[in-house]
Amino acid sequence: MKNLKIFFLFTTTWFSYSMIAQNLEWNEIHNGVWRAKIGAEQHISLLKAAEVKPDVKALDNLSDVTFPLDKAKISAEVISGKTYLRFPLEKEEELYGLGLNFKTHNQRGRILNLHVDHYGNGDSGRTHAPVPFYVSTKGYGVLIDAANYLTVYAGTGVRVEADERPVLRNRNSDPKWEAQPYSDAVEILVPANGTEVYVFGGNSMLEVVQRYNLFSGGGYLPPKWGLGFTQRVPTLFSAKDILNEVADFEHHNFPLDFIGVEPGWQSMAYPCTFEWEKTRFPDPEKFISTLLDKGIRANLWLNPYVSPVGSLYPKVKPLSGSHTVWNGVVPDLTLDKTRHLFKEHFYKNHLDIGVSGYKIDEVDGFDQWLWPDVATFPSGTTAEEMRQVYGLLVQNMTAKWFKEMNRRTYSLVRASNAGASSFPYVIYDDYYSHKDFITALINSSFIGVLWTPEVRASKSAEEWLRRMQTVCFSPMAMLNAWADGTKPWSFPEVEAQVRDVAQLRMRLLPYMYTSFARYRFEGIPPFRAMQLLEGFVFKTEKIEGKLDGTDNPYAGHKTKEVRYQYMMGDAILVAPMFVGETSREVVLPKDKWYDFYTGAFVGEEEIITIEPGLDKIPLFVKNGSIIPMTEARNRAPKTDEKLDLTIRHYGDKEGQFTLYDDDGLSFDFENGQFSQVEIKVVRDRSGHFIGSISKPERGKPYGYNRKVAWEFMTQK
Ligand code: GAL
Repeated sequence: MKNLKIFFLFTTTWFSYSMIAQNLEWNEIHNGVWRAKIGAEQHISLLKAAEVKPDVKALDNLSDVTFPLDKAKISAEVISGKTYLRFPLEKEEELYGLGLNFKTHNQRGRILNLHVDHYGNGDSGRTHAPVPFYVSTKGYGVLIDAANYLTVYAGTGVRVEADERPVLRNRNSDPKWEAQPYSDAVEILVPANGTEVYVFGGNSMLEVVQRYNLFSGGGYLPPKWGLGFTQRVPTLFSAKDILNEVADFEHHNFPLDFIGVEPGWQSMAYPCTFEWEKTRFPDPEKFISTLLDKGIRANLWLNPYVSPVGSLYPKVKPLSGSHTVWNGVVPDLTLDKTRHLFKEHFYKNHLDIGVSGYKIDEVDGFDQWLWPDVATFPSGTTAEEMRQVYGLLVQNMTAKWFKEMNRRTYSLVRASNAGASSFPYVIYDDYYSHKDFITALINSSFIGVLWTPEVRASKSAEEWLRRMQTVCFSPMAMLNAWADGTKPWSFPEVEAQVRDVAQLRMRLLPYMYTSFARYRFEGIPPFRAMQLLEGFVFKTEKIEGKLDGTDNPYAGHKTKEVRYQYMMGDAILVAPMFVGETSREVVLPKDKWYDFYTGAFVGEEEIITIEPGLDKIPLFVKNGSIIPMTEARNRAPKTDEKLDLTIRHYGDKEGQFTLYDDDGLSFDFENGQFSQVEIKVVRDRSGHFIGSISKPERGKPYGYNRKVAWEFMTQK
């Protein structure tokens, strides 16, 4: 009898494990991208909502890799309508991604409930872009393509049958006892009876991220004007107020490329009509064309909840959910018919008269403001699924309109998710911690989204300047004055420094635009975490808790990691300062590094302490880097304009840079209408640096003059 029991136990265990191994069939669907299907196919998923179109050619250009994990250690089971997933984890691995987190980078040892929400001051998984993708320092990534509220145990659960069990310790006598024993797995609970899972390989973390972005269609290349400065005006500003604001920018000689028009442009907001308010905007067409004549674009605020007083309402109401948001109906944007109605209305009222983009608000949360999880939608999409994909749906729908018109936009959205890399959207929110905004900017680079640490108001000139410095070194340089009416010159004592940093951004346009082109074509994030830089080896340190009553004795999972520094493009390390700080540490990766402003050597693979003063944002340049710049200007260049190039070189090494350019406005670059010129700095026989730049291909768009000025920044 006893033997029989053991036999039974053995067979059931063996049976369930072998089922798992057989069930997970990994298909290499693109170079270095594997997919496995588990259980039932779901009618909606994140990638389905985003309609991702992998850039197969670019994926093929990445290195060949083998499946990066031990397949036998991956398991998946569907039990009582839920999918249980497990991926192996080795001792030294760190995990990045798992949503737009604001306070932490390495997610190993954390539990996240990935749920689209307005960020509420705690990395719980509830955030604007709770992307279920993680990238490991071991060089692979995992994506769960489920439009559900996922729970991720990122190396916390310890199974009785774990492959590698933690050491058993007696807390009474062993000082090495740990509150959070070692876990050898990432486990994920998907509340659905099936899902699809993707594994991405790579020779580095950066290559994994590139694969993820290219699989999502490549990154986004904004129009040149999108990289200029943008001011969002107070809610009730009229067309006249806005034109005065533009004049004010001219008067203050301050860069401005697009204006954000906040809720007051609509005849009703919260819920919205998406129709112009006639007293403030008597002639929208003329208003937009007057702005365009001045080289200024307009971006319109909206939330997608349809007001009963607008002309869209009767048509969209039958295609909407069971619950309202601010008394407006919630359009079911998974339906072709709904999207078609929106398109018609938006073309007529905005796109056809030259509106250049949108700020799509309130598609994230908070819970009490959105539809509840008991809401239903005509398509049968559940409220939970709708919540997880709504940001993707609005981005996908609107991005297509601009694409169809062959006009690039650069817009804003408050919710996103997996598969969004190619969308023309930057995420923002109402939360306002400067430091956490920078952490979010860094984390955005792991999950294929862009983020702006917008500036709104400040308590002091110092804080104002520090915030302005970082927003000018981010994907979108935005002052959001919807509530306060602030202007870049609101603190006159730092007006000159604020102008300097905004103009520095404009001068860096050739470099920045090329960095975004690499995002588009190679999937390399333009602003990225230090961990994505080759040669960056700083390890997260664990800080153990103490049993002394003054500290939390269970805080063994606290970590010390590199914070508040990131790369802009390949060459520039940005180390922002925050209000009240006079000095900070900067971790310099492998190689020699130089001060951006002076060209002086600052250190090599070490931690330096800097005392930079208030005027400038600390920037460091990697040895041998070439940085193409142009003149300070207040607008991005027009298509037919030719700018002067000043090419900087830093350090004691020869260097190379491929400068990208195109018309800056349309999608013609996708049909080969772009230029790439090779810039080189080499030493001549006597050891002096000399620079050269190749000619652009004849007939291809190229916005620079042939004659360039060279600046060899580092004097021996
Ligand atoms: C908020 C948004 C702000 C501003 C405001 C206007 O939800 O985050 O940036 O647009 O709405 O009412």
